[in-house]
Amino acid sequence: MEASIPAKYSYNFRWMGRPIIQYPQDIVATQELIYSVQPDLIIETGIAHGGSIIFSASMLELNAACGGPADAKVVAVDIEIREHNRKAIEAHPMARRIRMIEGSSIAPEVVGQVRIEAEGRRRVMVLLDSNHTHEHVLAELRAFAPLVTKDSYCVVFDTVVEDLPAEFSSDRPWAPGDNPRTAVNEYLKETDAFEVDRGLDDKILISVAGGGYLRRIR
Ligand SMILES: C[S@@+](CC[C@H](N)C(=O)[O-])C[C@H]1O[C@@H](n2cnc3c(N)ncnc32)[C@H](O)[C@@H]1O
Repeated sequence: MEASIPAKYSYNFRWMGRPIIQYPQDIVATQELIYSVQPDLIIETGIAHGGSIIFSASMLELNAACGGPADAKVVAVDIEIREHNRKAIEAHPMARRIRMIEGSSIAPEVVGQVRIEAEGRRRVMVLLDSNHTHEHVLAELRAFAPLVTKDSYCVVFDTVVEDLPAEFSSDRPWAPGDNPRTAVNEYLKETDAFEVDRGLDDKILISVAGGGYLRRIR
């Protein structure tokens, strides 16, 4: 991680033509979860160029083609959806499974819209990858993790910030001591509904989401 992060490794990849800001191991782990859970709704925060939401939508499309939920969709939030990204996502073959909402993921009106989308859904998964400060991620967890259904997952990306030297995040509002890992740790003190899936961490090894694969157990 110490060699790959300064080299901006996470910016090297595309999913179905759109830049996806993820490590390949995390993409594969998320694929395993989307296939095993068979969600009919994936809630994502952090759209950027659209690669991760196109990835999620494409997995839902494959699930549907194999007898999974036909009406499965992705609801995705970003505080700023740039026009060229919006146009490319809307023109993508996976767009029919995607609804984008522009606004802060912790703004009450945005959370309210997402909650309405989750009504009546049977298997809900959440992927958090927006602002990586402790305060923001904790607020996202409080807003969205309760929507995750039993045996599904809330994945919190960029927990790795806690394990890296402080200079790696010196130009960011997050840092060791103030990041998604610290938010997860605090949230897990508030609830017994989730546990960290260490089996995933232990096999993918190279990940920005270590300790962030949260399985809903009750
Ligand atoms: C790391 S990028 C997301 C990458 C994307 N998930 C992917 O894998 O390709 C983070 C995104 O979070 C968005 N963001 C920052 N603060 C936010 C907030 N308060 N609410 C929602 N999105 C936010 C940024 O605009 C940016 O597009």
